[in-house]
Amino acid sequence: MPDATILGIESSCDETGAAVVRSGQQILSNVVASQISTHSPYGGVVPELASREHLRAIVPVVRQALAEAGQTYQSVDAIAVTQGPGLAGALLVGISFAKALSFALEKPLIAVNHLEGHVHAVLLEQRQTGEIELEFPVLALVVSGGHTHLYLAQAEENLWSYTNIGHTRDDAAGEAFDKVAKLLALGYPGGPIIDRLAPHGDPNTVKFQIAQIKHPDRRDRAKSNVRSGHGSGVEDSAPRFDFSYSGIKTAVLRYVETEQMGAGIETRRRALAETVHSGHQPILDDYLRLCDRRTLNLVASFQRAMINDLVTKTLAAAREYDAGMLFVSGGVAANHELRGTFQREAEMQGLPVLFPSRKLSTDNAAMIAAAAFPKFLRREFVEMDFSAEAGMALA
Ligand code: KG4
Ligand code: ZN
Repeated sequence: MPDATILGIESSCDETGAAVVRSGQQILSNVVASQISTHSPYGGVVPELASREHLRAIVPVVRQALAEAGQTYQSVDAIAVTQGPGLAGALLVGISFAKALSFALEKPLIAVNHLEGHVHAVLLEQRQTGEIELEFPVLALVVSGGHTHLYLAQAEENLWSYTNIGHTRDDAAGEAFDKVAKLLALGYPGGPIIDRLAPHGDPNTVKFQIAQIKHPDRRDRAKSNVRSGHGSGVEDSAPRFDFSYSGIKTAVLRYVETEQMGAGIETRRRALAETVHSGHQPILDDYLRLCDRRTLNLVASFQRAMINDLVTKTLAAAREYDAGMLFVSGGVAANHELRGTFQREAEMQGLPVLFPSRKLSTDNAAMIAAAAFPKFLRREFVEMDFSAEAGMALA
């Protein structure tokens, strides 16, 4: 197989990433500039600020990625960039820079779907160890702040194809983590904080019911009309495994109101703001000091309900579609309880499950450079007139 060194650029949300990856498997560098401190006072990503921060970071981040990889602008074989989905203004920063580089250096340009990037984050490390044979179809759960998607993936001769068999009808799983954390004044992003607090509470105290969706999604019907003849091998009438997480957020709000937890939340909000104001990032002990038992139990119960739903639906989909193996990626795949539960339950079902390392679970550019490699081999390059696709679908 020919060798290729690809410079990947990622700017779809709130991380500016650049990485150099050789032949889809060897990470020479992987630089991520996070914007957490910019967005955290607002409790979520502010699109205008994200674009501005990407503009600030893109040149130094790319330079650092090349330097750490011992490469130069001239020595890389191709430039890969995230086309979508994501925030339009944020995507445009990465795309404009990638286009300028490609034009000036006369290097081929490869457009990558961010979701395919998350799938390839698993493959990247799997190829490194070379220990596990891929068993198709692969069922890939991409679970992040913007997405909760289930794809059946097939690969033939470097051509990867995906069929969506499930997605969220409302909030993504990571969004639910972030919104619940915001509601409880636990800071932003909420996923990592809830992950660390949950083991300190009892997950069986609050019983949350997560919506089980029975009716078809009208948006899918419209899309399947466009898609027919797509050759995915999955019938349009095939069973779907959709998710819904806006209800649990409301249930947490109701619980907080009924249990009159408002005053405690306000005290925590002020105390954490003071810590940040005095120039310190709160650590786990600060959170534990500021959370009573009821709050810790609520956090643990929320996380348990989310994970049970994600794992149960994904494993049901794996049985239905006779998946050969399972990939779990995206920011929420960094969650300790999620990993442990998937490993345990999938093993009982005899299904191998693979995760990226934590660093490659959340947004990064190494996964973009890795997903670009099969496209490089197929010479799937884009012209200068391609543009950002904020709502880009993978299948
Ligand atoms: O993949 P990602 O970095 O960006 C998107 O493409 O959205 O995912 C970010 C999301 C956020 O919602 C964040 O709260 C969540 O992933 N997240 C976690 C954990 N680490 C990040 N959720 C649960 N547990 C974690 N350890
Ligand atoms: Zn992502």
